[in-house]
Parts: sequence; structure tokens; C-alpha cells
Amino acid sequence: MSEIQNQIREKGQAALEQIETAKNLPDLDQIRVSVLGKKGSLSEALKTLGQVPAEERPKLGALANEWKSKIEAALEIKKTALEANQIEADLIKTKIDVTIPSRKVHVGSLHPITTTVRKISETLGRIGFDVTVGPEIETDFLNFEAVNIPKDHPARDMQDTFFVGPGVVLRSQTSPVQMRAMRAEKWPIRILCPGAVYRCDSDATHSPMFHQIEGLWVDKKVSMSDLKGVLGFFAKELFGTDTKIRLRPSYFPFVEPGAEVDVSCMLCAGKNHKCQVCKGTGWLEILGAGMVHPRLFELAGYKSDEVSGFAFGMGIERIAMLLHGIPDLRLMFHGDQRFLKQF
Ligand code: DAH
Repeated sequence: MSEIQNQIREKGQAALEQIETAKNLPDLDQIRVSVLGKKGSLSEALKTLGQVPAEERPKLGALANEWKSKIEAALEIKKTALEANQIEADLIKTKIDVTIPSRKVHVGSLHPITTTVRKISETLGRIGFDVTVGPEIETDFLNFEAVNIPKDHPARDMQDTFFVGPGVVLRSQTSPVQMRAMRAEKWPIRILCPGAVYRCDSDATHSPMFHQIEGLWVDKKVSMSDLKGVLGFFAKELFGTDTKIRLRPSYFPFVEPGAEVDVSCMLCAGKNHKCQVCKGTGWLEILGAGMVHPRLFELAGYKSDEVSGFAFGMGIERIAMLLHGIPDLRLMFHGDQRFLKQF
């Protein structure tokens, strides 16, 4: 038996013993490197193979490989065992007290403006209205001119409108979305357009940014009675089945005839002359409406003798305040958690 053969056996045997007694994974890895690594004991022994006669080399090579496999197998077995021990030890160390109460989860809530828009959209969605939106930065033309508000109209006063640049404004109403919709598609149209609007106005009952929702129904032979039917349904769905509506003649440049629409007071139904909400009148104004002005149809590229339609627009904050009994508009915008959490 050659010297090298002995060396291989001895080193191999020693390695197996070391592996057997290894205490942890880093030690085991150390052993692997010290035996099988580039400069490991087995590798070093193999380097001397060059010195033995050629005919003995294959035998020695085979022997070395046999030991290498044995050692690798032993390393693998030990590694699995040590890992299992480690898991076991970790489990004993880290006890979990399943009786500790869980952390409180803070669930956000939807803003009353959001829930009101959703409620209105859902209600009118049931009778065929689709929601569409337009930009908050709008051209002067679409915000005013195209909805029949001429250059000298008081609504265009610098005090009311935020001008962004030449011919560009922060929209002061959602009515321009009517015109956008009509220019984009042919009638029939039945849409709702919710969104933020801006006016240079700020006090207890006005905010420079607030929300409106616009409605538009254009088709052959849409009439004022359709308008009354839709708004009557809307009022009952929103404020309760006993709710009535009434239309008072009014003027809005983009409709003819135009009306202001009141709902019967949901708090006192007109029975309390001291009612805080309706001030004893029994009625609450909630929106403006009317039959689309023929001029708008012409500007949209429709033939005004072929179609008719109605439009309406309302302030969302006002509706939300009535629905929830919110006393002050400013509460909507302060972001006070105590207020918002109630919704
Ligand atoms: N745009 C109007 C406003 O801001 C509200 C309005 C009134 C919209 C009558 C309409 C309408 O569509 O027909 O005061």
C-alpha cells in the first residue's frame, strides 16, 4: 500500500470524525473547506499524485473520489441534522403569547362628498345615467361662451372666476362637461358629471373649491315633464319616499326655460315653523335645472329642431349636509378626524 493511499485514508477518516462532532453549521462549513477546499487536506494529498508511477494513478484517483463522496455525504447528513436542531432551538427560545390582544387596525372612511357623489351616481345610474368627467382647468370658451354665458355676463366677473392664463380658467361650474360630452358624441346622451369647481369666494357658506354634479339628458322629444319625473324620483330616492319637489321659474343662461328646484324639508315636512333647516318654509332649494338652450345644441353641432334635452346642476356639499345633518360647510374641508370618522 502506497504512502499516498494511506494518507488519503487517514485524512478521510479524520474528516469523518470531525464532521461527526461538529457543533454548529459554521463549524461544519469550516470543516468542509479544510478538507475539500482548494487547499484542503484531501486536495493537498491528491496534489502529490504526480509523483507516483502512472499505472497506479487511476487506482489512487478512484480511491480519492470514493472518499470525497463519503465526506460529502457525511457533510450533507450532518448539515440536515444541525439545521433541524437550530429550528428546534429557535422554537423553544421564541415563545408566542397567543392571548395578547391584537393591534388595533385603523380603517379609513370615505369622505361624505365621495359617498354623496356615489349615492347620486348610483341612484341616477339605475335610470340610465352614466358618469363622465371633464377637466378642472378649462378653457374660457367652454366654461362660459359655449354654455351661453357671454363676455359681459356677471358670472364672468373677476371676483368669481380664477383665471389661470389667457383664455384658461379653473372651471367655475360643471356645465362645460355638458358641452364636452355633446361635442364628443352624438345624441342620445344621458350623463352625470361630478367634480370639483372653483370660485373666488370664501366665507361660512362658500368655499373657493367645492363640488358639483351636472346631469344632462338629450334625445328626441325629451320634455320638461321628463325633467320633473327624473328629479322627483331622485329626490324620493335620496331623501325619502315622502319627499316632494317643486320647480320655481329661474334664469340660467344655458337653459330655457330654467328653474330652481326645491325639495320638501326632510326634517319637518313643513310642519315646524321654527325648523332650523328650512327656516319654516317647508322647502329647501337643492338645484338648478332647465331645458337645454337651442344655442348649445347648435354649438355642439346638433340640429336644435331634431333634439331636445334637459340639464340640471347641484352642489354636492349642500346635498351631503342635508343628508347627514352637517351644520357647517367648512367641516367638509378641515380634515378633522373626529368629524370624518363618523362616516
Ligand atoms: N351651473 C349652474 C351653477 O353653477 C348650476 C346649473 C343650473 C346647472 C341649471 C344646470 C342647470 O345644468 O340647468 O350655478
